[in-house]
Amino acid sequence: MTAGPWWASESFWRKTAIWVTGVSLIVLVVLTFDTLSQITAGSKRVAAYSVINYRIDYKFDDKRHVQVPVIGAKEPLFGRELSEPDAEALVAKGKMTLQAKNCINCHTVLGNGAYYAPDLTKSWIDPYWGTRDVREQQMVDFIKDPTDKLHNSLGRRMPRLGVTDEEARAVVAFLKWMSAIDTNGFPYNFKPMQQEN
Ligand code: HEC
Repeated sequence: MTAGPWWASESFWRKTAIWVTGVSLIVLVVLTFDTLSQITAGSKRVAAYSVINYRIDYKFDDKRHVQVPVIGAKEPLFGRELSEPDAEALVAKGKMTLQAKNCINCHTVLGNGAYYAPDLTKSWIDPYWGTRDVREQQMVDFIKDPTDKLHNSLGRRMPRLGVTDEEARAVVAFLKWMSAIDTNGFPYNFKPMQQEN
């Protein structure tokens, strides 16, 4: 066998493959831990579940040029303040309901899902729910039976999905918590409800 140039040798490419695989593995492990710390509830961009005890505003940030959630005064969901574990249980139940009823068959949630119906990420602060005094009940009523309510110019209606009162309240808790997530301005051009008194 005649020896070719060094860069064409089998051993050079074997070593290169081992190094590239090893370095990529380390980078992926580091990125995984970095991501986990940023998507955990109670971190800088993802609020703790007990955020459902507070008002959530949505304001334009001049520095970042996107709208960001602003956690305001105490405003407990359904007028009842919950501890962190109770709030977590309620939000988790809401998330399970979304999964069980396959809401993302029509909607997107944080951008994931289908494009038949509106994105639900900021639904909590959607002006459609009227004022903040009636919003909670309007949302529960809508989720339980949306068939007689036409909401925007989409011209599409949401079907009744057999969501119970308890489940609908949990879904609202999930939607309120989700609206407090800093999504870098997603969805863009969202016009939030006026919540000042
Ligand atoms: C078959 C499709 C479909 C499914 C499944 C569906 N929706 Fe909807 N949803 C719609 C449509 C269409 C609208 C818009 C209705 C309108 O404009 O009147 C809507 C509107 C909404 C809104 C108001 C959105 C806003 O902008 O504030 C909420 C909240 C909502 N749906 C929640 C849910 C939840 C929770 C589930 C699962 C339990 C669900 N939807 C499942 C079709 C669907």
